[in-house]
Amino acid sequence: MKILITGAGGWIGQSLSRKLFLEGHDLVVSSRNPRKLGSSLEVPCEAFAWDPMKGLAPPEMLRGVDAVIHLAGEPIAASRWTSGQKKKILESRQIGTRNLVKSLAKMPQKPKVLISASAIGYYGNSSQELDETGPNGKGFLAEVCQAWESEALALFDQIRTVVVRTGVVLHPSGGALEKMLPAFDARVGGILGSGQQWMSWIHLDDLVSIYLKALMDEEISGPVNGTAPEPVQNSAFTNLLAKQLRVPAFLSAPSVALKAAFGEMSQVLLEGQKVVPKMLEAHGFSFRYPALKDALEDFFPSSDEAGVRRFSAAQFFLKPVGEVFRFFCSQKNLEGVMPPSLHLKLSTMSTSELQESTRVEYQLKVHGLPVKWVSEIRNWVPEKSFKDVQLKGPYSVWEHEHVFEEVRGGTLVRDRIRWKAPGGPLRAFVSPLVSSDLKKIFAERKIRIAEMLAR
Ligand SMILES: NC(=O)c1ccc[n+]([C@@H]2O[C@H](COP(=O)([O-])OP(=O)(O)OC[C@H]3O[C@@H](n4cnc5c(N)ncnc54)[C@H](OP(=O)(O)O)[C@@H]3O)[C@@H](O)[C@H]2O)c1
Repeated sequence: MKILITGAGGWIGQSLSRKLFLEGHDLVVSSRNPRKLGSSLEVPCEAFAWDPMKGLAPPEMLRGVDAVIHLAGEPIAASRWTSGQKKKILESRQIGTRNLVKSLAKMPQKPKVLISASAIGYYGNSSQELDETGPNGKGFLAEVCQAWESEALALFDQIRTVVVRTGVVLHPSGGALEKMLPAFDARVGGILGSGQQWMSWIHLDDLVSIYLKALMDEEISGPVNGTAPEPVQNSAFTNLLAKQLRVPAFLSAPSVALKAAFGEMSQVLLEGQKVVPKMLEAHGFSFRYPALKDALEDFFPSSDEAGVRRFSAAQFFLKPVGEVFRFFCSQKNLEGVMPPSLHLKLSTMSTSELQESTRVEYQLKVHGLPVKWVSEIRNWVPEKSFKDVQLKGPYSVWEHEHVFEEVRGGTLVRDRIRWKAPGGPLRAFVSPLVSSDLKKIFAERKIRIAEMLAR
């Protein structure tokens, strides 16, 4: 299928676009700033500039599109809900979705399906079990979701339309969990308010599969709850997360303090709803992570020592595996792919070419501080994978696995890193810094590799 994704460069869009590409679909994406997509998107796509707030979608972007996935919208919890910010949150969804749907209405040959994001905020604050037939709630988020859905469903009689009432999406790479981790690492994570509020969550990988299910299953239309079958209350969530991270969670944040700190936006933390995915279950959807403990075990495996974190990235090249593998093994490229701000210089390599047990010594600068790094190459499988494991260096644990897969006439390179920040008692403060550095370094590295390999 040819699939248009709006907001593809966002957090969910990045995972979704990779999965759709690997499943064989061709992607068209829109962004207000398509030049920036190079650092976020991992797979090839045709990119168009479109600001959903500023008018109809360009017809050339929609031409020949079989399906549309609409994710674009001002982030809900990025900054305090001033009246201006609330207007942006609402209008980017209401007017933005209206502009998209109006553009689809003008097409002589319409796509077969439109899938729009929505959120469980639709139901307001409630402790009753809610399936898709549950009543709409009250409050700002409920109003936003109702306005958003009613725009998305405007062509319901002409295009199969699905609105995914998305729960709290969990993955340490972003969203709510990434925001919570620093507090838990610093051992000040705890129950929010009464802890009684419900949290209907979903593992990011399961959400991506829900979008695929909505795309392919022609029996599905209308609202679909994008949540795991076992919602939990905030107190249970806090205790399970702390247990998995092996940190205490005896503190709690009183409602008054959260209201003072976040204003009206504190409702995102203090309110919730108990949502169940009835529609998905009725259509035979199978959750990979139905229970929270399964999802947390995936993010923070018990087999890892406490404090170990994982980071992953991927990048596709329209080049044969052999050529891409050789590129990643070349000494001069090892230096060239890293951002210049790191001043990475290779000092010695124990063999002339990378191979099993090669030792590589580097000098680099981390936040201006000179660092010596020695790593060893392990699990060397030519044209398939290898790991570099830090023997001496700034981290307590660092293992970087490179995996090369032949995909759609090219090569997908996956980077999987297990790391543990240095610092003993200071680790809690260093970890978030490392996490954000890794994101920035890999985003820049991605652009540099693409340029170097294209030469
Ligand atoms: N993450 C969650 O837990 C969660 C839960 C419930 C619902 N959702 C919904 O699912 C969708 C995707 O979520 P996400 O976490 O991937 O969001 P995200 O990372 O914030 O990405 C959304 C994309 O929307 C575009 N965008 C941002 N502000 C905009 C504005 N003012 N007007 C128009 N476009 C704008 C951006 O694309 P460009 O900058 O490229 O234009 C951005 O990449 C969102 O609509 C979100 O509300 C997410």
